[in-house]
Formats: sequence, C-alpha cells, structure tokens
Amino acid sequence: MAAVSKPQYQCRECGARFPKWAGRCTECGAWNALDEVAPAPKGRAGGYAGEARAVPRPLDPEAVEAEPRWSTAIGELDRVLGGGLVQGSVVLIGGDPGIGKSTLLLQTLSAMQGRLRCLYVSGEESPRQVGLRARRLGLSAGDLQLLPETGVERILDTGAGLSPQVMVVDSIQTLYSEQLQSAPGSVAQVRESAAQVVRFAKQRGVSVFLVGHVTKEGALAGPRVLEHMVDTVLYFEGEPGSPYRLIRAIKNRFGAVNELGVFAMTEEGLREVRNPSAIFLSRHGEPAPGSVILVTREGTRPLLVEVQALVDESPLANPRRVTLGLEQNRLAMLLAVMHRHGGVAMYDQDVYVNVVGGVRITETAADLPVLLAVLSSFRDRPLPPDLAAFGEVGLAGEIRPVPSGRERLREAVKHGFRRVVLPKANAPRRPPEGVEVITVERLGEALEL
Ligand code: TYD
Ligand code: MG
Repeated sequence: MAAVSKPQYQCRECGARFPKWAGRCTECGAWNALDEVAPAPKGRAGGYAGEARAVPRPLDPEAVEAEPRWSTAIGELDRVLGGGLVQGSVVLIGGDPGIGKSTLLLQTLSAMQGRLRCLYVSGEESPRQVGLRARRLGLSAGDLQLLPETGVERILDTGAGLSPQVMVVDSIQTLYSEQLQSAPGSVAQVRESAAQVVRFAKQRGVSVFLVGHVTKEGALAGPRVLEHMVDTVLYFEGEPGSPYRLIRAIKNRFGAVNELGVFAMTEEGLREVRNPSAIFLSRHGEPAPGSVILVTREGTRPLLVEVQALVDESPLANPRRVTLGLEQNRLAMLLAVMHRHGGVAMYDQDVYVNVVGGVRITETAADLPVLLAVLSSFRDRPLPPDLAAFGEVGLAGEIRPVPSGRERLREAVKHGFRRVVLPKANAPRRPPEGVEVITVERLGEALEL
C-alpha cells in the first residue's frame, strides 16, 4: 500500500484542491464544502486506471447481448433488481438500522452459494454474531466465505485472491481507506471506499451488494453520496411495528425504477410475499367514512392499497394538512382544485391523509381516491366497501387517465371489488363480467358519487 501522504481537501462545488481544511473555499467562496480526498497520483490525472485506453467503435444495436444475470433464488429480490443480479453490477441497499438488510443479504448469499462463489464481508458484526444469525435463519453450512475486516485495501486484496462472483459489503459506513486520514463513516471515507469497491467490481466482473445505513435525518452522510456511483439503488421501507418490509428500486441501470419487492419479517428471517395486494387492505367490519381503496401501480405490478382521510374542524388559523405515504403538496393542490371546481371549501378544516401499511405512493393515480376519501370523511358518509378507484386530477378539474388502466381494473376485480371508479379515458370497451365501471371525466361527476 502507498505510504500515507498528507491529507488533501477538495471543494465539492468547484473541485479546487487545498492542502488544508478551511470553512470556506477560497476559489469559489462556497461555505463548508471541503472534503478530504485521496491525493492525486503524480504525473497522471487521477481516475480509473484499470484498462488500456479505450478505442471508439461504431454503435451496433444488433451486436449487443443482454447482460448476463444470476438469479438470487429470492423472487421478490430478483424482481426489484429487474430480473436477477447483473454480473459485475454494484447494488446499494439502504435503510434504517435494524430493518433487515443484513438478514436479507445473508439469506441471499446462502441461497446462491452452491452455484456461485460468495463472500460476505462483515465490518459490523463478528463472525460469531453472523453465525448466530445464520443459525436462527436455519441456514446450513456451505461454501459461503465470511471475512471480518474493515480496511478496504485489505478487503480487496483478499477478495482478489478468493475471486468471488458475488460479494456483500456490510456496511459501507464501517470501511476505511488507508489513503485518507478521516474517520470511517465520514463522507470522504464512504466515498473513497465505495469508489474502490466499484472499480474492483467492474474490473473483475464481481457483483457487489453494498449495505448503507440511512441516518435519522433521512438521508445523509452515507448512501445518498453513493447513488450516482452504483448501478442500482434499493431502499428498504416499512413501518416500525409492522412485519412488512418493502424494497423499492430508486435507481436501476438494468431495470424499472419504483419496482417493489414485498417481504414479511418472521422469526426465521424475511419471507417473500408473492401476492402483496391483499396485505395492504385493512379489513373493517363496517364501511368507515374516509376510507377508499386505491389501485396503484408500483413498478410493473398493480397493488390495492387503502387510503384513509380524516377531516376535522380546525382550531388553528392555519389548518393542518398532514400526509403519510403521500406528498403533502399534492394534497394541498387537490384541496384547491376541489374548492375551485367542486365548490367544496375546507379552509377551516384540518385534513389528514394516511396510506395504510407504510406504502409510499409516488404516482398521480392516487388523486381521485384521495379526493373521494377526503370528501367521504368531510360529509361523514362511507363509500361502499366493494368500491375501488384510481385516476389523476388536473388543475382544471378534469379527471385524467393514468397508465395501465386495464391492468388496474383487472387487479381490483380479482380481489372482489364490484365497483370501480376510473377516468373516462381509461374505460375499457367491454367491462369485465359482474363489475360496475363508473367513469368520470370532470371533478363534479366524481363528487356526485
Ligand atoms: P438486521 O438484518 O440485523 O437489520 P440491519 O442489517 O438492516 O440493521 O435485522 C435485525 C432485525 O430483524 C432485528 O430487530 C431482529 C429482526 N429479525 C427477525 O425478526 N427475525 C429473524 O429471523 C432475524 C435474523 C432478525
Ligand atoms: Mg446489519
């Protein structure tokens, strides 16, 4: 390993380098923007040095083959990865501490180890702790190699000797590079360690799972700075107290984003939930005001999810608009549309909207169901329990179509819904047997329901 040289600092904004840290970059004036970086090698601009110079060649769409993929043997994980783990790709798995990242990856490697050479690098837990977890998961001994180590240069040295095909690094925040003097977990260390691991993966065609903890503030000195360096970013979502764990693809160079994998945490680790639609439907005995079933489509799979709204007279000058699992600005916009085009005013009401089960809805098809739920709570009139809805609401009060209308309708019917409210432009030419398809074009028609 190269002798440790003096630390160097680089401005995040303009890229200028300095021998000393300062609160302000003297080149561009940015505050608090200097990070420690590895010293630039002498006589050569820094950067990827693994291969001979690349030669340009004509682009030939016919000649490229699909990337070789390995199945992880865990269907829901394969799904979020876009159909398996791409050889030589780097996958970042982020999430709160304790949500199940190590559990999932230990299960994954143990399912892959018979077919592929696998290496589990644990910087966080001792071999004993990993062993105890493996026993709890009921895994049997195999070829899975375990490496308790945190120095990234040593890890990659050992890795080069073992030449694994799949490697887990748990977690990136515990790694450090000898080239830097800052502490493990600092932005500079996380970035440099990840850069070395990514280079290793690309040069040797090793698929790597990088684990990254997300700090309380939501994002931070961790995973976020790595998102652009890796091929795929998966985040764990889930409500504390609920056994369900969702894994969402935030970025994927080899597949669809927003794809969801659904798992349940059990005594024996994470179990796949193959038919997730039903788990997000909370069952009420009686139909309750303010509850509407929404047909959403996360990634490539439709899901039925319950949206609940509560509208209550507000004692505040500025009434609350609170959303869980939905964007707050979207709710404010919908209330404005409802006032302007539907004549329903809620400026003296607090409005709370919750998406049941800890799902986060990222698409506009929730607009119409959210409005129906809000209105149902406001008027204190429940909607029929066999009704589901989807549709986007435009600023002019029009109900706009959403993608994959037919597929959503089919999903709702499959789960026993007999009435489906949807945008007129999404209406099927021939509605399925035994289902009342209620099409709406204007907000007014929706409110009459
Ligand atoms: P873990 O994978 O260690 O989380 P992370 O690596 O994301 O920090 O998950 C730990 C939690 O999962 C812990 O609260 C215990 C629980 N758990 C189970 O419920 N069942 C199991 O079989 C295992 C291994 C863990
Ligand atoms: Mg862990």
